[in-house]
This record gives sequence, C-alpha cells and structure tokens, in this order.
Amino acid sequence: MLGLTDHLGDALWRVESASIEPQDSPGGLVVAGMGGSAIGGALARAALGDHASRPIFVTRAYGLPPWTTPDTMVLCASYSGNTEETLACYESAGALGAQRTVVTTGGRLAEMARADGVPVIPLPGGFQPRAAVAYMTVAALEVAALCGAGPRLTSEIDVAASHTEQLVSEWGPDAPEDSLAKTIARGLHGTTPTIAGAGLTTPVAYRWKTQINENAKLPCFMHELPELDHNEIVGWEGASEVGRFSAVFLDDSDAHPRVKERMALTARLIAPYAQASFRLETRGETPIERVISLVLLGDLVSIYLATLRGVDPGPVRVLEELKAALAAS
Ligand code: F6R
Repeated sequence: MLGLTDHLGDALWRVESASIEPQDSPGGLVVAGMGGSAIGGALARAALGDHASRPIFVTRAYGLPPWTTPDTMVLCASYSGNTEETLACYESAGALGAQRTVVTTGGRLAEMARADGVPVIPLPGGFQPRAAVAYMTVAALEVAALCGAGPRLTSEIDVAASHTEQLVSEWGPDAPEDSLAKTIARGLHGTTPTIAGAGLTTPVAYRWKTQINENAKLPCFMHELPELDHNEIVGWEGASEVGRFSAVFLDDSDAHPRVKERMALTARLIAPYAQASFRLETRGETPIERVISLVLLGDLVSIYLATLRGVDPGPVRVLEELKAALAAS
C-alpha cells in the first residue's frame, strides 16, 4: 500500500505503452470486474465527477447492462485474469460487438484478448489484487479518456502521486503513534465499523469496507448520505443491544453544503450509541487527489487494524477456498 505513489505513475506509463488507439464510444464506458479489480472503475467515476461527458457504469456481475451496444466501450478489469464473472462479461461484450479493452496481469483474460486482437493494459504481478487499486483506477480513467467519456487527467494523476507521498509519511508506519491513521485504527479496534460516504466519497467508503473485510478480517458495512439519514440512522438506537459498532464519516471539501450539515448532525445523533466515531475529510485540491487521499487512509487503517488483531493482512483464505470450490464444480 505504501507503493501507491509509484503505482500511479507506473500505471500511466503502462497504459501509454499499450498504445491503445482512441475509440469514440458514444454509448459510454462500462467497467466490468469484481472486488479489488472493480473498485478502480468506481473510484475513477468519482474522480471524474461532473467532467464525465458520457455514462460510466461499473458492473460487478456475470453480465453487462442491457443497454450495452457496439457503441459502448467495455473495460474488463481482472488482476488475475481468471475471474469467472469478468470472463463472462468479456465474452458478452464480444457477442454484442461492443468495443473492448482489458487490464490484467495475464490469465485466461489476457489469452483471449490477445487471440481476439483486443488491447491489453499489462499489470505487474505479485500483488494481492486489491493492492493494485491505483493501477485499476488509472486504467479506468485513461480508458474513459480514450473512448471520449471524460477528459485526460494525466497531469492531475502526477500531482496526486506527489501529494500521496506526503500523506504516506504523515500516516504511514513510521509516523508517530498519535498520527491519524493509527488513532482511527485504535478507535475501531474491537468494534464493527460502519463507513459512510457521500458523492465523491461513496466508492471510497466501499473501499474502506472491503479493505477492513479483507485485510483486518472483520465484518464492516457501508452506506451513503443522504440516503442513510432516511433509514440506517434509526437502526443506531438498537446498536449497543446487539454489538459494539463504530462509525466513520468520509466528508469532502466539495460536498453539497446540506450533505456536510447532514454528516455533522448524523454523527452527533448517533454518538450515544457508537463505541467510536470519526469524521474525516478528503485532502488535496483535485478530485483524484481527494479520492486517493482517503483511499490511502482507509488502506492504512485496515492494515493497522490487522496488526492490532494479530492477523496477517495478506491472505484471503475463505475467498480462495470459495473460488477453488466453484472452479471444481
Ligand atoms: C483479493 C481481492 C478480491 C479480488 C476479486 C477478483 O485481494 O481484492 O476482491 O479482486 O476476487 O479477482 P481479480 O481481481 O483477480 O479479478
């Protein structure tokens, strides 16, 4: 995770080295992937925000949205290249005559793409897929630009990389014990964390949830504002009767003013029922910097939580067991 800075720059270079021809896609971009490979699409869409000029959709399933046509660009993202849902989307996109691009380290997906003459963005091997988040985000951003769904953010990505480097020293393992990431991890330790995002931070909240699941091996849930204020807020009344829950609110400097007000009020109203509560704000100027800032913070918190629990953040045994059982059936 500390390599995030280098990954951003290396990802740009890898997309460039794939020499992908721009392909105008009036139907927009669909990013097909699962778990750590899909999140990049969602983060890219958040980073593009109002600058997206065509629909950008993330599918985490065996199929593509029904409106996919030959005018749609489908980016099939799978770190291993062997995820069956993503392979199914790759094949559906081919059957529909949609334009395709692949981002992967290899596997069946790379084999099929090479045989079909589909451009492949090659990723370095040896990571857990979820650690390649910067690669997947940059790949989705660059493919969005190549298919006309958004502007190129190359210089913003470069700036975000140097900004991230500063945050790594502020929140990383060498930072003092009372640094933000370590303090949050200590606060969440022994609780079931719930993460709330809004707008730009919604996919970041999902990233926090999945990183806490996979790195710290803990249940963790997420929701988004303003919707959370219309249901989940009421459930907090019973929280302490069934467990120890904590809350993390991911705010953004550019959030809608009413959403900001809601976050502050919601945090205050649930405080009596939460074991710990944190309201955090994105850091940086551009949307990509802000997205990456809270992704980094969440990733570090999840690793520190694993450390506090004495578990190895790397392996995802149950997930592998499930994949193996499915592959054998
Ligand atoms: C494991 C992880 C998983 C995988 C998912 C899909 O680190 O994050 O969520 O990303 O099981 O596998 P890939 O990414 O190989 O397509």
